[in-house]
Amino acid sequence: MHHSISDLTRNADSLCATWSGGAQTDLPYLWLRDNCGCGECRVEQTTEKRFHLFRVPEDLRPLKVGIECAGSKDEAIFIEWPDGHHTRYRSSEVHGFLSQPRFDLHYWDGRFRPRRFDYQRFLASDRAAAELIEEFLRTGVCVLVDAPTEPDSSEQLAARLGPIREVLFERIHNVKVDPKGYNIAHTGLAVAPHNDFTSYTWPPNVQALHMLVNECEGGESIVVDGFGLLSELRRDHPDKFDVLCAVPVPFRIFSEEYECYAVKPMVELDSDDEVRLVRFNTAQMQTIPLSEPRLADFYAAYHELSRRVNSPDSQVNFRLEGGQILLCDGHRVLHGRTALRSDGRRHLQDAYFEHDNVRNHLRWLRLGGRI
Ligand SMILES: [Fe+2]
Ligand SMILES: [Zn+2]
Repeated sequence: MHHSISDLTRNADSLCATWSGGAQTDLPYLWLRDNCGCGECRVEQTTEKRFHLFRVPEDLRPLKVGIECAGSKDEAIFIEWPDGHHTRYRSSEVHGFLSQPRFDLHYWDGRFRPRRFDYQRFLASDRAAAELIEEFLRTGVCVLVDAPTEPDSSEQLAARLGPIREVLFERIHNVKVDPKGYNIAHTGLAVAPHNDFTSYTWPPNVQALHMLVNECEGGESIVVDGFGLLSELRRDHPDKFDVLCAVPVPFRIFSEEYECYAVKPMVELDSDDEVRLVRFNTAQMQTIPLSEPRLADFYAAYHELSRRVNSPDSQVNFRLEGGQILLCDGHRVLHGRTALRSDGRRHLQDAYFEHDNVRNHLRWLRLGGRI
């Protein structure tokens, strides 16, 4: 299907295009000049931009505008600028610029079951990889099964998830009972739902929890959809939600060798006012100073969120067996485990990746026609 423009009207600072169906789109002159795709305005080898906006006046207006090849699939807007530069946009190209599609998130509660994917197929098949990444972007969680049980084999995931995001302590974290451990997960205690490294200003946002061996009683995995809970909290108590976005909270994890500390609100929003990050880590949250003027309101809101996170209605429980990898969106999904009830062997390894690289692997698969 090709898109056709039936009329162009010049406004003071934009061109108004009327589509053949009657809809209208404003095309600001500076936008039209800035996005020119000609060989003079672009580095041909890379398509990167060579044109700099400061080279034209702020009140730039075209000398001439027109429609070429009207009604055909090659239909284009033609513009001549006062300095003699020419710009052309195919109508279908302008139509493609109308909006940026947003990925639909699917929120879930305690009844949800994370989808399972075959590890080898994920690595070997572009189609299987795309299917997993789409599910991961939508729900923030999935499980890989029939994965290796050799230590450090989660390095192989880099072929699909991008390079490992290194953090302090270890490149790949070992989680087993260790009397010298620096983290509650190194004890046999229950670990309530949390996300890792809330004590970074930019916590790792993809986490692969790779179970190598699990011969222990107890230690069932728990996941909670932090974004789902926050959207309900925002609907039920907008004032409580707002205070969680506003009050800076200190978080810390440390050992004899390392110190990791940051002060940030529990909830961060993106430029569309949507939640982009939750920080929830009871074990590593530090004391908020008494000088904080919203302290009492913060505590009422934190109590409400803590109640919801720890409610069985929110929690999905399952057992992660040796050779299974739980993949979580680290800015969205909280993970935890029930207490260990025996001293059977249990060895989990955590590796972190960047969400941008995972999302863009899907884009690369699509743009390259691989799927
Ligand atoms: Fe953790
Ligand atoms: Zn140009």
